[in-house]
Amino acid sequence: MVGADNTVSSCARPALATTYEGDDIALLERIVPLVDVIEISPDAIARTDGKRARLRPEVLDEYACVASNVRFIAHGIGLSIGSFDHWDEGYLGLLDELFAHVPLDWHSEHLATTVVAGESVGTMFPVPRSEEALDLICERVRLIQERYRVPFLLEHVIHLLPDAPAEFTPAAFLNAITSRTGCGLILDAYNLQCDAANQRLDIGGFLDELDLNCVREIHRQRWRVRQWSRRSDGNEYQAGIPGVRLPPPCAARSQPESGHV
Ligand SMILES: [Fe+2]
Repeated sequence: MVGADNTVSSCARPALATTYEGDDIALLERIVPLVDVIEISPDAIARTDGKRARLRPEVLDEYACVASNVRFIAHGIGLSIGSFDHWDEGYLGLLDELFAHVPLDWHSEHLATTVVAGESVGTMFPVPRSEEALDLICERVRLIQERYRVPFLLEHVIHLLPDAPAEFTPAAFLNAITSRTGCGLILDAYNLQCDAANQRLDIGGFLDELDLNCVREIHRQRWRVRQWSRRSDGNEYQAGIPGVRLPPPCAARSQPESGHV
């Protein structure tokens, strides 16, 4: 994609990123020489100060210590961009604070709903693939792009439940968002393999249909064991798998044996 300064453009070379969430400066100093980019999750470095969540200043200081030797990106969990009523303004407050303290190459969120009618659902549900949801998502992406003048990426999430009737295929829905807004995508290998195991997603067909020019970041995790969980309907679903390798885009994040985001 090409466009304004906060839309996705082609990158010169791949880069390696990993997450760091504070409180171990010795670890951070060991990581920095090994990677190009540190990923920051604003939600993970926040604490509640009265009613309002704020970023922990001591963690921001740690990032400042290594800022001359590494680049930074942000990856959110709490925006709930797919909520029918409103997204979480509190997350944007955290992001405002992060942008004020840390130079970010880009930032990203999950294409998901985590809050419904003010109540956390405790996980991430995919957005319905309808024209109505597409309009809602694209308008919210536009507002984010206006607010933060760096590229914004969306990540597809795992379908924990069987798919509802949809007006778009999974790839076509992502393509519609990127073509309308100029935002980029995160491709998560783990999420795709879970969808293949749980919902019989045809990964090859998905990748053939997806506009890979919009993929700016790849997530991969290494898992020691397959993890299976049992849904309330008695069926098992896959929640953890060995990481798989995909062609590199601009940044690939490796997150060893951790929970998924
Ligand atoms: Fe991910």
